[in-house]
Amino acid sequence: MTLATKNLSRHQAVFAIKQRLLEAGVDTADEDARILLRAATSLTRLELATQPQTALSHEQCQILDQYVTRREAHEPVSRILESRGFWTVDLLIAPNVLDPRPDTETLVETALSLLENTPNAPIKILELGAGSGAIVCALLSELPKAQAVVVDLSPHACQASKVNLARCGLSNRAFVLQGRWHEALQAQFDLVISNPPYIASAELNALPPSVRLYDPILALDGGTDGLDCYRAIIKDIPRLLKPNGLLVFELGIGQATDVRPMLEAMKLEIKTIARDLGGHERALAARAIQNAQ
Ligand SMILES: C[S@@+](CC[C@H](N)C(=O)[O-])C[C@H]1O[C@@H](n2cnc3c(N)ncnc32)[C@H](O)[C@@H]1O
Repeated sequence: MTLATKNLSRHQAVFAIKQRLLEAGVDTADEDARILLRAATSLTRLELATQPQTALSHEQCQILDQYVTRREAHEPVSRILESRGFWTVDLLIAPNVLDPRPDTETLVETALSLLENTPNAPIKILELGAGSGAIVCALLSELPKAQAVVVDLSPHACQASKVNLARCGLSNRAFVLQGRWHEALQAQFDLVISNPPYIASAELNALPPSVRLYDPILALDGGTDGLDCYRAIIKDIPRLLKPNGLLVFELGIGQATDVRPMLEAMKLEIKTIARDLGGHERALAARAIQNAQ
């Protein structure tokens, strides 16, 4: 029976949704039930908490039913609501584009901390594999004179980046390019930043359904050992970085041991390996100590 046929109060609806999500194996059922109810009814947290007995309208129940059916199929809430907060920006989340993760904010934090003496400098940023544009939107919003080139192989990701840059009022400082990593680029940059695909191919099938069924494989598959994209980017990094330029990579769990020597072999100096909130080594930053050109 659907929610729409039950004439539920807000409180009863939260309970019914939670039960459905628990039965579907969603481990954030309680939190998700409240978020989906608020989204379907445009209620604030306070309204939901203080007026729990008010009945839902038939239309609200119908919208909610659609949301809950999608969540039962393990579609992430951010995809259902097409929205995610990242750093200080509100992003549109589009199909066929990676849903940015909170861990990726560690890259933004790391880059900004290493650029702290130059927040108003007209630096040039290159983001490789931009997805939704989360990283570049966060960086440009903090660095008012910076400009960026944003590359992704996926046309869906390029479109999402353009939409999100426009939403943040940053389109005039970013150029979005569809292509393979840095292949088409001759310029040099003060900051190259990338969260490349880093899951080993054999591990893709073991990912949770919320990832496996909804994030595009192009955003996940890092080849046999998960390191293919690091190799592809690092081999040309000396020509992409200005002298003293900064490279910031997101890392998969345990990959610092592999990526660090690749960068040292290219004469980059490791500046920091920052941990995410879960304690995993997540952001590796290195500087070009010598311009190889
Ligand atoms: C892990 S996602 C990161 C997306 C976004 N930067 C984020 O952190 O949410 C990796 C991105 O790299 C892109 N990508 C994969 N292979 C690529 C290639 N050869 N050249 C350019 N982009 C590529 C994917 O389309 C995807 O958007």
